[in-house]
Amino acid sequence: MNKQFAHDVLEGLNSMPKKLSSQYFYDEKGDKLFQKIMNLDEYYLTRSEYEIIDSNKERMLKLFSGSEGPFNLIEFGAGDGYKTKVLLNHFLDKKAKFNYVPIDISRHVLDELSDSLKEELPNLSVKPMEGEYFEVLKKLKKSEARNVVLFLGSNIGNFSHDQASVFLEGLYKCLKKNDLVMIGFDLKKDPDAILSAYNDKEGVTRDFNLNLLHRINEELGGNFQVGNFRHCPTYDPLTGTTSSYLVSTTHQRVEIMDQAVEFDQWEAIHMEVSQKYDLNDIERLAYEAGFTIQSNFYDSKKYFVNSVWKK
Ligand code: AVJ
Repeated sequence: MNKQFAHDVLEGLNSMPKKLSSQYFYDEKGDKLFQKIMNLDEYYLTRSEYEIIDSNKERMLKLFSGSEGPFNLIEFGAGDGYKTKVLLNHFLDKKAKFNYVPIDISRHVLDELSDSLKEELPNLSVKPMEGEYFEVLKKLKKSEARNVVLFLGSNIGNFSHDQASVFLEGLYKCLKKNDLVMIGFDLKKDPDAILSAYNDKEGVTRDFNLNLLHRINEELGGNFQVGNFRHCPTYDPLTGTTSSYLVSTTHQRVEIMDQAVEFDQWEAIHMEVSQKYDLNDIERLAYEAGFTIQSNFYDSKKYFVNSVWKK
């Protein structure tokens, strides 16, 4: 049994208000559900970022390679690399000198990505590194080549504003002067478009949230009656925060590892934050951490931005 998981679940469900961490969404079933989410009509994020990367890959190459020197293209949480492959392909076509360094804490994820890259891009120099993002980055600080860190997909949106600041300050410290980062931010937009992205008609996002209750049942011997919880996403246009909740439809009691957790009727569990930004928010985050903004790349609808920052 995963001790950290057990600890976090019990602590979260004994908090006021109750909460669970979306970092635990991604077990095998969760990975598959997220793949399905990325293909939903309502989930615009992946398509918007794909469009940005595809239509700006040459400009990105010029920014990244600077004065023609070799660079390390480092990616945090690469997943299946669907969007990154567009960049990698283009950079190889242009005979750019670079290594691709995907970083993940999951060996399994890295192996699958490396295998697919070997097949699809046999000329690519891939140096996968397993571990915590910053630990690995510290090792790369010694390399003479420029480091370019990709943090795509609005993964930064899972952080609260304070957590994002702490993360970016940590990132800054692990880089050398002139290193770059490119971060994908989902932008504030029509609240209906945002809410639909987290409340799709097919119910895939609902199942993605409920899957964590199933996971607790399976891995921690819980007895959640998953049908007694309703998926409820919200969007606050003032703060840009999308939050997902699971709401208990009845008064009920759940047992997890000999501990009882009680739910009042209509009591909620906070499941996930998916923060949306505007340019002011992004500028503030960059400057507070010490970076200067080099370039902002948008999709045609201005739904999403890939922001490139320099140390
Ligand atoms: C992978 C964190 C970017 O917040 O949009 C998708 C995860 N949650 N649908 C997001 C997610 C619900 C996603 N991120």
